[in-house]
Amino acid sequence: MRLILLGPPGAGKGTQASSIAEKYQVEHISTGDIFRYHIKNNTELGKKVKEYTDNGKLVPDELTCEIVWERLDREDCQKGFLLDGFPRTLQQAEILEQGLKERGQALDSVISIEVPNEILLERLSGRRVCNSCGEPYHTKNKSPKVEGVCDTCGGEIVQRKDDLEATVRNRIQVYEEQTAPLIDYYKERDLLLSVDGTKAIEVVREEIFATLASFSSKDC
Ligand code: AP5
Ligand code: MG
Ligand code: ZN
Repeated sequence: MRLILLGPPGAGKGTQASSIAEKYQVEHISTGDIFRYHIKNNTELGKKVKEYTDNGKLVPDELTCEIVWERLDREDCQKGFLLDGFPRTLQQAEILEQGLKERGQALDSVISIEVPNEILLERLSGRRVCNSCGEPYHTKNKSPKVEGVCDTCGGEIVQRKDDLEATVRNRIQVYEEQTAPLIDYYKERDLLLSVDGTKAIEVVREEIFATLASFSSKDC
C-alpha cells in the first residue's frame, strides 16, 4: 500500500499513523519527524530547516522532496509507505506523482483527516510529543502510562517548539493557503478518502480502516 495522510496541523495524522502503518505493514514517514530529528542532532540539514520549522513556515519544496526521495528509495519502502505531512504543496504533489510514475509505482489512497480550526488550536496547545520517536500525546486526551515517558520507546515527552499559539495560527494559515488545494488535486484523481477527525481517537482509527477496506475492495 502507498498511502498519504493529509490534514491540517493537529488533525491527528501522527496519532493515527502508527496503527495504520502497523496494520498495512508499511513504513511511516513523517517529514516533520525527519526534520525534528536533524534539528535535535544539529546536522547540516537540521541547521538549514530549523528557521522554517520553528516559525511554522514550509521548508522549500526542492529540499523537502530530496529528503523524501532519499527515504522512499530505500529497500524498506519498496513494499509500500505511509506519508505523513508530505506532500504539502501542489509542486510537492506533482514531483511525487512524477517520481512514482518513473519508478512504475502509484498511490493507492490519500486519507484526509478533517477537523475545524478551533479544535486544532485546543489540541496543539495541549500536545506533548516523544523527543525520540515523535509519538504524540495530549495533556487531556492521551496520557502516557508513566508520566513524561513514551509508551512506545521509553523516550522523554516534551512540548514542540512550534506549538506556541502564534506559531500554530501561522501553521494553520500556511495549511489553508498551500496545502488545502491538495484535497481537490487528489479528489480529481479519485484517490481521496475523507474522515471526520473530530471523533475520539479510536473511532477515527476504525473509520480510516473501514474506508480503506471499502476503497480497496471497490478496486478489485
Ligand atoms: P509536521 O510535524 O508535519 O506538523 P503538522 O503538519 O503541522 O502536523 P502536526 O504534527 O502538528 O499535527 P498532526 O496531524 O500530526 O496531529 P497529532 O497526531 O500530533 O511539520 C512540522 C513542520 O515541519 C512544518 O511546520 C514545516 O515547517 C516542516 N515540514 C514538514 N513537512 C513539510 C513538507 N512536506 N514541506 C515543507 N515543510 C514541511 O495530534 C495533535 C494533538 O491532538 C495530539 O496531542 C493528539 O494526542 C491529539 N489528538 C489527535 N487526534 C485526536 C482526537 N481524535 N481526539 C482528541 N485529541 C486528538
Ligand atoms: Mg504530526
Ligand atoms: Zn517514543
